[in-house]
Order: sequence, then structure tokens, then C-alpha cells
Amino acid sequence: MGCGASAGKYSIAESSSDSNAQPEAPAWIALPAITSAPRANPSASLHMKMLQYPSAVSLEDFECSSVLGRGKFGEVVLAQHKEDSLFYALKKISKVQMVERKNKDSVTSEITNLMRIRHPFVAHLFGFFQDDRHVTLVLEYCCGGELFNRLKHRTRFSPDEAKFYITEIALALDFLQSPPLSMVYRDLKPENVMLSSAGHVRLVDFGFAVPLNADGDSITGGCGTAM
Ligand SMILES: Nc1ncnc2c1ncn2[C@@H]1O[C@H](COP(=O)(O)OP(=O)(O)OP(=O)(O)O)[C@@H](O)[C@H]1O
Ligand SMILES: [Mg+2]
Repeated sequence: MGCGASAGKYSIAESSSDSNAQPEAPAWIALPAITSAPRANPSASLHMKMLQYPSAVSLEDFECSSVLGRGKFGEVVLAQHKEDSLFYALKKISKVQMVERKNKDSVTSEITNLMRIRHPFVAHLFGFFQDDRHVTLVLEYCCGGELFNRLKHRTRFSPDEAKFYITEIALALDFLQSPPLSMVYRDLKPENVMLSSAGHVRLVDFGFAVPLNADGDSITGGCGTAM
């Protein structure tokens, strides 16, 4: 049964915050083509399907369960792909919210940015698809949760733990900022630092990331999260 169909399971149609969808939401959004090569792992089959037949993948291909987190434009849900049985984090971005907040560009740039990145400390994007209400990103599931929750639970980290997280975050940022990517992340906060099952860092949320100018000039503009 699909994500939105099962009565006992999480239902996308029922639980979405935009159930009164505005008619001006675009039915189809021009998104970048999936061009990156699949990472060598068992999920390559789903990646290849999205690469060759992007419109063939839909929410019906996944069994959705819990909500992993909520962001500005929608929810991130845990989902098991029916064919490969692997778990993914589906980031469902509401088109209505996108239009209302005039933020279509951040969705396309999040996809474009993530497709260029292959790094052990950045959550992997396997692909994406869309229907008339959502653009959905298929992301690596970071089952260790947010660094924010770990910090809240522990109150403070030991010096060694702090060094561990800072080092992994610094390595990811250095990779992003160095050529050939030359990208500034611009949304570093404990809610966007996820952890893998082994406790390693996975950065998420690349909607604000921008390329550095070729001449290294400073970048201006608003970013981050208002407190
Ligand atoms: N790959 C993932 N695996 C597990 N949980 C995730 C994953 N990606 C995101 N989440 C959860 O969902 C939350 C929201 O995701 P994300 O930050 O990407 O959304 P956003 O709409 O861009 O949020 P924001 O309001 O911070 O800009 C995260 O803080 C995290 O709790
Ligand atoms: Mg976020």
C-alpha cells in the first residue's frame, strides 16, 4: 500500500499542513535532470530508475512510517522502498508553501547542490520526483537523529566528543568550500547536523548553499534560520 493510502500508517494526504492547497501552486516544476552517477551501494537500483525514468517513481513506491523532522516547506518522513526494501528519508517540499514564500529557487538549488556532492559527512541524495503537490527528495536516512537532540539530551559534550563533531563538520565544510565545488553552506546549526547509525556527521539542508564567485568575492544576502 502506498504512503498516502494506509489507514494505520502515516498518511501524506491527511497529515500535510497544506490540505487546503491553493490553485496557484504549479502542477509541474522544471527541476534539474539527474546526472550524477550512483554511489556504489545497494540503493543503486532505485537511483538508476530515477535517472532513466524519473516520472516512473512516485510516493506509491514507498511505505512511509514516522515523521523524522519538519522544516520550513514540509516534512521529512521515514520510508521503505518496496522494491529494494531499504530505508530512505523522503523530504517532501510543499509546492503551495514554495509559491507562498516565493522560494522555488531554494528547492532547485538544494537539488542541484546535493547532486554535485559526494562526501561521507554529507547526507546522500539518491534522486527526486514530484506530483502536483510536492517535490520529494529521496535522501540517505540518517538514523542517529539530529545533533541538536543529542546535545539536548546530554546537556554538554565532553571535550573529546566536541572535537569529534567539530572535526567532521570542519572536514565537510572544507570539502564544500574547496574547488571544484567552491560552495558556501550557510545554514550550519545543530538541527541540520544529522548522525549516521555509527554516529558520524551527515550535513542536511542545502537550500541556502551558494557557489563562491570565481574571484572569491564576498557573498551577500539573507540566510540561516531566524531565532
Ligand atoms: N536524511 C535525513 N535523515 C533523517 N532525518 C532527516 C534527514 N533530513 C532531514 N531530516 C530531519 O528533518 C528536519 C528538517 O529537514 P531540513 O532541515 O532538510 O528541512 P528544511 O525545510 O530545509 O528545514 P529548515 O526549516 O531548517 O530550513 C531536520 O532537522 C531533521 O530532523
Ligand atoms: Mg533544516
